[in-house]
Amino acid sequence: MKIELNQNKVFYNNGSEKKEIHPFWLRERVNGEEYLDKGTQQRLFDPTSLSSDISINKANINENYLEIDFNDGVTSKLEIDKIALEFSKEDIVIKSIEKTKWDSRLKNIKNFQYQKDFYESKEMHDLLVSFYQYGFVIIKNIPTSKNYIVEFANSIGSVRRTNFGEYFNVKSKPDPNDLAYTSLALAPHTDNPYRNPVPCIQLLHCIESKVSGGLSSLVDGYTVTEELRSKFPEFYEILTEVKVRFRFIDKEVILETISPLIELNDDKSFKQVRFSPRLDYVPILDKEKLNLYYQARKKLSEMYNSEKYRIEFKLEPKDLIMMDNHRLLHGRTSYETKEGERFLQGCYIDFDSTEGKLRHLKRKFNL
Ligand SMILES: [Fe+2]
Repeated sequence: MKIELNQNKVFYNNGSEKKEIHPFWLRERVNGEEYLDKGTQQRLFDPTSLSSDISINKANINENYLEIDFNDGVTSKLEIDKIALEFSKEDIVIKSIEKTKWDSRLKNIKNFQYQKDFYESKEMHDLLVSFYQYGFVIIKNIPTSKNYIVEFANSIGSVRRTNFGEYFNVKSKPDPNDLAYTSLALAPHTDNPYRNPVPCIQLLHCIESKVSGGLSSLVDGYTVTEELRSKFPEFYEILTEVKVRFRFIDKEVILETISPLIELNDDKSFKQVRFSPRLDYVPILDKEKLNLYYQARKKLSEMYNSEKYRIEFKLEPKDLIMMDNHRLLHGRTSYETKEGERFLQGCYIDFDSTEGKLRHLKRKFNL
């Protein structure tokens, strides 16, 4: 992209088109120390209080800078590279990490090791990039004392508290309010589809595992969605269109949200999957439409439950898995409580935690 000048007007030229940049847009970005706080990069003035007929008295390009005198007496020197960055509509840090589709053949994914000064390390940067590629990452050797998972979560961002508390203990217990707290097998599902917004990332930390079963399983909802789209377009369409009700009822709360099983972004790209077939209720629709919906949901469930897409592994004590609850489904195989203890701790964090940390580490290491 190039900045060009013509009669005190500033233009951007991206090779295919040339358009004038609004003078007010440039005026909002003045960066002298009386206008912009250097530390926070927050404005020291309120642009809504400026006159709306801002214009440019004089503009000049000096090497990598655009120098402007505005008609309200303010002068500014703007870095052309920074202006260019603003023309990218995408979030250049997160969206530039391409998702890697995977299925049961996924092999040799890198595990990360907890170490001193972990949260500020290049290793943490690489871990977060891997997380955005695959939708999950496993970290070995995480301390297990004093609910350390909360410290882990708060060292990346902040814990997202839910109706299960700040963190939760996953072990079989009497009178459970969720099947997670039994020793039964759990089919692939996403967590908390009834919450608005759905918690973004689940952390699960293995404290103890003395049972032979209780394997963890993961399925890439993104891979399955893409395959459904290409092989069963009608099913894909109805599952992205029909909004269903997810509900969770406890003694103190009723949580409810209405969303499609496959949610897309405005540009029709993949956004999120929700799947928890014990909790979803489709509204009454025309019988024909429901016919198609039920066929589509059955196909989707077969795919999610198929060995073709599933990876299975055993979490060892001190292993912590971080998984994208908007992209991946997780489950576990059953286990025998008489074999011994199986004890995991879990909590949630949101994408602003991982995104904020990753942007910070990129800046820190100049990556
Ligand atoms: Fe779960």
